[in-house]
Amino acid sequence: MKNFNGYKCSICGTEYLPGQVTYTCPKDGGNLDVVLDYSGIQKKFQPEDITSRRETSLWRYLPLLPVDEPAGSSTPLHAAGWTPVFALPRLAEKLNLKHLWLKDESRNPTASFKDRASAVVVTRAREIKAEVVVTASTGNAGAALAGMSAAVGQKAVIFAPKSAPQAKVAQLLIFGAKVLLVDGTYDDAFDLTVKCADEFGWYCRNTGYNPFTLEGKKTAAFEIWEWWMEAHREWHKKDSPLDNHSPLTIFVSVGDGNIISGIHKGFKDLLALGWIPNMPRIIGVQSEGSAAIANAFNANTEVITPVSATTIADSISVDLPRDGVRAVRAATQTNGTYITVPDSEIIKAIAEIGKMGIFPEPAGATAYAGLVKAVASGIVKSDDPILVMNTGSGLKDIRAAMQAVTEAPIIEPTLDAVKKIL
Ligand SMILES: Cc1ncc(COP(=O)(O)O)c(C=O)c1O
Repeated sequence: MKNFNGYKCSICGTEYLPGQVTYTCPKDGGNLDVVLDYSGIQKKFQPEDITSRRETSLWRYLPLLPVDEPAGSSTPLHAAGWTPVFALPRLAEKLNLKHLWLKDESRNPTASFKDRASAVVVTRAREIKAEVVVTASTGNAGAALAGMSAAVGQKAVIFAPKSAPQAKVAQLLIFGAKVLLVDGTYDDAFDLTVKCADEFGWYCRNTGYNPFTLEGKKTAAFEIWEWWMEAHREWHKKDSPLDNHSPLTIFVSVGDGNIISGIHKGFKDLLALGWIPNMPRIIGVQSEGSAAIANAFNANTEVITPVSATTIADSISVDLPRDGVRAVRAATQTNGTYITVPDSEIIKAIAEIGKMGIFPEPAGATAYAGLVKAVASGIVKSDDPILVMNTGSGLKDIRAAMQAVTEAPIIEPTLDAVKKIL
């Protein structure tokens, strides 16, 4: 089934065969893009061959992935992806937008977008018979790797900064991974992980470093593509004013830059196959306190200068983003942009989305905070169709969530006490 031709360096363009390299480009350290056999896929598949599949997980897109179908079919590894898209009419009205949706990645098996990457990396690890898979993580990538590994009995080692939220650390431990909390930043954990992989022969999943993470993440783009086609069909039925609308604009929060690059790669695959006529617009949102990629975008360069990151959104707190070049391109090549938001706006956004029945973690709410700023500054117009990605569950970081609300009062168990409060 594999339509996997090899890799291409995103910086120097050097191409490698599938067995020739494992992580980044040996020449310049550039992130490697997986190269698919597009003409082979075109000969074998039409879009309907994918969209008519009964599979409701990211494995629906197997013909566009560089791995084979993983063994077994009823584990959490098979439940990653196929997340719902919710319409948000009340928030749309508040922002004076006509069309606003949210794709809720907190519905993944370990409650974040990262399950997409880990499902594909663990499948790859089984294929190459890796004994141990290791990753550095701010929490979610580790939880995803630990969960997907546990699902199929793969050994996993996770390095996270000791400041990682407790719920994320609990996930790692409950999934039975070997967990090492590093007295340092995510970036320190990243560097240590690479050294350990080298020293002990472990397979390294690190975000951006391992080319297969992007391949998992791109499946979100395929789902957006299918959902968008379906939405169009509905609108055509209703003779909607959206018939002549501008392209979909997607808001996504950015740390290392691998999620935004993955979404971009998915649409690039679809464009290369001739299955979409043009790209959606992709807008990256970073916290003001962790904005290395936004800084590069605004300076009109692909050179990423590290920052000293501090933000409440721990999942996107990164000094030196590991997928910065491709993340800048995700915006430059789609007529998108980068927006930065202060932590205070991220906290407000948690509560705004919460009132719609969706509980985002700070990094998830960051994308919506970016939309609010984009509306205020005219980056999006009232009739632009907008999709916001919520990348993770608020249950993973209760301390941050509690900053977005007023604590509940404690009362005597009497009717009088209730009357006084109401
Ligand atoms: C919930 C959440 N949102 C956003 C991101 C940012 O993804 P990336 O680091 O690939 O930019 C992460 C990464 O850990 C995450 O866990």
